[in-house]
Amino acid sequence: MKRAVLLLAVLGASQAALAAGSAEKGKTAYAQHGCWQCHGFAGQGGITGPKLAPDPMPLEALLAFVRNTRGAMPPYQKAILSDADLADIHAYLQSLPKARDYKSIPLLNP
Ligand code: HEC
Repeated sequence: MKRAVLLLAVLGASQAALAAGSAEKGKTAYAQHGCWQCHGFAGQGGITGPKLAPDPMPLEALLAFVRNTRGAMPPYQKAILSDADLADIHAYLQSLPKARDYKSIPLLNP
């Protein structure tokens, strides 16, 4: 988690207005704002929304999408979900581990 926050801080250097996100707070915000209902608790997708993690899109793209979506996903206004909350959600999505390489799982390699 620390690594994700650090990475976010480095990547986010260009957007000084946004404080670095907290994966821990992001996990709560992700649950409270109902992202899980369509994207799954681990951002795995497959309910009605696509996969968001691991390897989420950059924070700038996430912010632009969530504010302006006109498709099947409802847009979230700043009054409901702040940029800081979205930065936390991004940090949470970034903190989720990748699946193991199947080659490292003996049962899958008879
Ligand atoms: C009502 C169901 C629903 C909820 C709730 C929802 N989403 Fe989505 N989301 C979708 C669907 C469906 C799409 C694909 C729609 C599209 O591309 O227009 C999507 C797409 C996205 C994408 C773009 C993914 C990509 O790879 O293009 C992001 C990022 C995203 N959602 C983030 C969020 C976040 C963060 C939340 C919570 C604040 C959230 N969503 C809540 C249904 C939902």
